[in-house]
Amino acid sequence: MKPCKWGIIGPGRIAAKFADALKKVEGAELFAVGSKDLGRAKSFSERYSAKKYYDDYVELAADPSVDAVYIATPHTYHHANAILCLRNKKAVLCEKPMSVTYQSTLEMVKAAKESDSFLMEAMWTRFLPAVDKALQLVASGEIGEIKSVQADFGVIFPFEPTSRIFDLALGGGALLDIGVYTLFLPLYVLGEPDAVKSFSHFAVTGADETTDAILYYKNGNIASIHTTVLTETPLVASITGTLGSISIQAPFYKAPGFVLTKNGEHQSGGKRFDLPYGDNGFEYEIREVMSCLEKGKKESDLLPLEYSLRSAKVVQQICDQNNLRYNLSR
Ligand SMILES: NC(=O)c1ccc[n+]([C@@H]2O[C@H](COP(=O)([O-])OP(=O)(O)OC[C@H]3O[C@@H](n4cnc5c(N)ncnc54)[C@H](OP(=O)(O)O)[C@@H]3O)[C@@H](O)[C@H]2O)c1
Repeated sequence: MKPCKWGIIGPGRIAAKFADALKKVEGAELFAVGSKDLGRAKSFSERYSAKKYYDDYVELAADPSVDAVYIATPHTYHHANAILCLRNKKAVLCEKPMSVTYQSTLEMVKAAKESDSFLMEAMWTRFLPAVDKALQLVASGEIGEIKSVQADFGVIFPFEPTSRIFDLALGGGALLDIGVYTLFLPLYVLGEPDAVKSFSHFAVTGADETTDAILYYKNGNIASIHTTVLTETPLVASITGTLGSISIQAPFYKAPGFVLTKNGEHQSGGKRFDLPYGDNGFEYEIREVMSCLEKGKKESDLLPLEYSLRSAKVVQQICDQNNLRYNLSR
């Protein structure tokens, strides 16, 4: 793989996992770290042997040696951080959700096109071997015409009003943090729904603790999602077609495998596909970005910008139906 010098903006929890994965990808190098806090930038760069560190995202984005930037700040900052990098002609891998509104997601896509730079949402689940194989089987017609998709993602987050999960100023709530994973398979497999009906329940901060939604398609297809930060749910996703179904094993967003069931094989347990990932699972999305850059592509065919816009549109519909409002941070 062609060498790629990576920069990271927002060296927090998930950035550490990303930096661990970079070490496992041939040709990838963590070159620069950008934090608002000089001490944090320095210690993260030392921990991962990055050559440079900055206490200013602007300087990182302007560094001519940086090829690609991973944006790992809270959701409400993705828009400003990604556009800064794109305008500096950097390739951008932006943490999910791409942004907190449909309009701001559109602006990010526009910025990528205007600067002729690569942009991809870090929906790492898409690239995991188990999910990739399940999607290949779906595309090949193995389970027939797809009629429904279901997914649940509930994990318990203790209530902390100023945390990223509960603070609306940081894009808090189940929907944006984990609900976007439940939307992934329906929107990827069934496309854009014709109607969405949703219900949210809120923490005292105004962030959604629980959101449920039905995606309806005029051809009769249907998807349902459940996401919550109050309980641990089964964490399973299933895709059902006219010839059978695929149940992606828990936790589906970091799936180690899936079960294919056809011809009433439920009692025998169906056919199991074990496809564990080697390192921490982020290496696949990193390889996809680097492979796209090597080929001169500006977006991934496996996770195109059209997918991120579709996801942002449905999230916006759910927000509008439930009076959920987020402001962009700069
Ligand atoms: N793919 C996954 O599995 C996964 C898992 C968890 C999170 N995520 C995504 O990653 C992003 C970051 O999540 P995280 O849990 O890693 O965040 P985090 O550790 O809380 O913070 C990451 C960085 O964001 C900036 N930041 C944090 N709190 C801030 C605040 N109140 N105001 C301004 N900036 C703040 C800081 O950057 P500075 O150092 O520059 O100040 C911090 O280093 C989110 O969008 C989330 O959806 C993805």
